[in-house]
Parts: sequence; C-alpha cells; structure tokens
Amino acid sequence: MTQDELKQAVARAAIDYVVDGEIIGVGTGSTANYFIDELAKIKDRIKGAVASSEATAARLRGHGIEVRDLNEVESISVYVDGADEIDASGAMIKGGGAALTREKIVASVSKSFVCIADGSKLVQTLGKFPLPVEVVPMARAAVTRKLAALGGQPRLRTKPGSDEAFVTDNGGHIIDVAGLAITDPVALETEINQIVGVIAVGLFAQRGANVCLLGMAEGVKTLT
Ligand code: 5RP
Repeated sequence: MTQDELKQAVARAAIDYVVDGEIIGVGTGSTANYFIDELAKIKDRIKGAVASSEATAARLRGHGIEVRDLNEVESISVYVDGADEIDASGAMIKGGGAALTREKIVASVSKSFVCIADGSKLVQTLGKFPLPVEVVPMARAAVTRKLAALGGQPRLRTKPGSDEAFVTDNGGHIIDVAGLAITDPVALETEINQIVGVIAVGLFAQRGANVCLLGMAEGVKTLT
C-alpha cells in the first residue's frame, strides 16, 4: 500500500468515532483532508464542524459541510487530526502544516482526540521531525535565541521558494526546531509555552491523543 492509501484507510476508520448529531472538530493536512472526504459521505449525520485552519474550512464548505465558529460552540465530541510524529503514550509533534495553534485550541475543547496517521509517524522518542513553534513576529529573534539555548537548532520557516517568512492563519511566524530528543514531552511543552512571544508549540503532550489509528500494511492498528 502507498502512504496515501494508508492515510485513506485511517481516514475511513475514523468515521466510526464520529458521534451522530454532534459537532466534529477537524484537523489540517493531507490525512485530515482524506477524513473530510469521508465525512462528506455522512454529512447528514452531523450538526457541523469546527475547522483548525482556513484550508480545512474551505474543504469542508466545498463538500457542503457547515463550518461553525468555535465561539458559538459549547462542546465538541471528537477531534480528528493527523500528526507529524506520535509516541506510544499519545504525545505528538504537530504543525508541519502550520496549523498548530488552531489545532491545539480545537483539540483543547474536544472530549476526545482521534489521531489518524500512517504507520511511519509512530516513533519511540519525539524530535526527529523539527518541532514547530508559532511566534509573534516581533518576538522571532528573541524566541529563537531561547529555543537555541534548549539545545535545538531553530530555523525560521519561509514561504516555498522564497526567503520571506511564512505567515500563519493567525499572522504568526513559525520557527522549526531540529535536533531535539524529546524525552519528557510534557516538561518541554510547559517550558516552551512559558517563553514570552510564543503563541503555541507543536508539542501535544499535556493533551495528547486518546486514540491513535495507525495505517499499517496489515491493516489499521488502534492504539489507546
Ligand atoms: C498540520 C499538522 C498535520 O496534522 C501534520 O503536519 C500531518 O500532516 P499530514 O497528514 O499531511 O501528514 O499538524 O499543522
């Protein structure tokens, strides 16, 4: 099976976690896009969706799924999203698609987080994938120095094919920190959250995944 077929398989499996008559939180990225395509097939069973990015909102609307403003929603039963890395405890690195802040917000108000990923995303220790940190643009250099002091190699994310800083849906910039072996994800998430100028860090450990559906050659494996 190709990586895309594995992503499609977990996207299909995640439909079993959708609660009828409720609002669904929807993540960002290629795996989340496959989930949106599956969700479209059962759209009459849900009340609507809260999107974690403008791109996800556009894809949901394109399928005729109502996109709700999080400020008008009291609770979300389940949040479905991909990950760049996930460990056996459900801690993840996210933000490869630059949507980490909104992903974290939607996940934080959801009762359950279902992570969908192809099997290559499962790791023993997080950190081979550079850790994304969204920052307020004026604090970029100051935050970069603090991230370097933690032992990583921070690098500003730029627009494809350009030296200009990439700008997120929130008007933030992203610093990707390579070279971290994250042995205590909760502690590192707490430490980076405390750096002034950080909007959000793409470590999802304090609130990790409740369920992970992993696409493997032999089928979808469920980690809880
Ligand atoms: C976006 C994310 C994505 O979930 C992550 O990058 C995985 O993406 P994909 O499903 O394309 O592999 O965190 O900000």
